[in-house]
Amino acid sequence: METSINSLKEALKNAERVAVLTGAGVSAESGVPTFRGADGLWKNYQATELATPEAFAKDPELVWEFYNWRRGLIAQKACNPAHTALTALERLIPDFTLITQNVDGLHLLAGSRHVLEIHGNIWRARCTRCGKETMDRAPDMGRRPTCAACGGLLRPAVVWFGESLDPRILRQAIEAAQQCRIMLVVGTSSVVQPAASLAFTAKSGGAMLAEINLEKTPNSDLMDIVILGKAGEILPRLVEGWA
Ligand code: OAD
Repeated sequence: METSINSLKEALKNAERVAVLTGAGVSAESGVPTFRGADGLWKNYQATELATPEAFAKDPELVWEFYNWRRGLIAQKACNPAHTALTALERLIPDFTLITQNVDGLHLLAGSRHVLEIHGNIWRARCTRCGKETMDRAPDMGRRPTCAACGGLLRPAVVWFGESLDPRILRQAIEAAQQCRIMLVVGTSSVVQPAASLAFTAKSGGAMLAEINLEKTPNSDLMDIVILGKAGEILPRLVEGWA
C-alpha cells in the first residue's frame, strides 16, 4: 500500500489536470449513511427504494419524511479529513474538477470550488409543477412542502433512480473525464450509471486511474492503482508535504 500511495502522489505532483469522482464513502467518516452499506436502511426501507420517482408518486409524504430525516442528519455532520484533503488537492493542481455523486453538500462546505454535483443537492427543492428550484437549509421541510411561487408540490432536487442527470452538468463531467491525466475514484461502489462509466471515459482518454475504497468494486480491474483503505486516511497522505 505504501508503494501505491507514493506512486500516486508522485503522479499527482506532475499532473496538470485531475478529476476526482466521489461517492457516499467520502462522507461515511462524517457519519452520513452510505446507500448500499448496512447503514443504508431507514425504517426498514433501503435508501435506494425511496429515492425513486415511483416512490414519490405513490407516497410523497413518506419520501419527504425520509428526506427530512436525511436533511436533519446531514445538518449535524461536519466535513472530514477526506473532504479537507480534496480542497488541498484542488489548490495544488492547476486544472481540477471534483465530480460528486453525493447530495450532502459537504464538499462545498469544506471549501472545494470546482464541484459538479451530478446527483443534485439535498438542500435544494424543485417544484413538480413550475420547475422553480429553491435552496432551503431548514432540516425539516414538513410532510408536503409546496412551492412559494405556484403552490405546486415540491420534491427534493436530487436525481432519483431512473431519472436523467442534468445534461449540462453531465456534459461538464464527461469533458473533465475526457481531459484529465489522472482520475481518482473515491468511496463509490461504481454500480450506478452514468457516474460509474466516467472512469471508462477517463481511461479511453489516456488517463491514469486510481481507486480508493474500503473494498474492491466492479471498476477495480480497470484501475492502474487500487488503494484499499479509508478515504479520510488515504487522501490526506496524498497531499501532505508537497515540495
Ligand atoms: P454506495 O453506498 O453504493 O457505495 C459506497 C462505497 O463507499 C462502497 O463501495 C464502500 O465500500 C465505500 N466506502 C465506505 N466507507 C468508506 C470510507 N471510509 N472510505 C472509502 N470508501 C468507503 O454509494 P455511491 O457509490 O455513492 O444516487 O452510490 C451511488 C449513488 O447511488 C448515490 O449517489 C445515490 C445512490 O442511489 C442517487 O441518489 C441518485
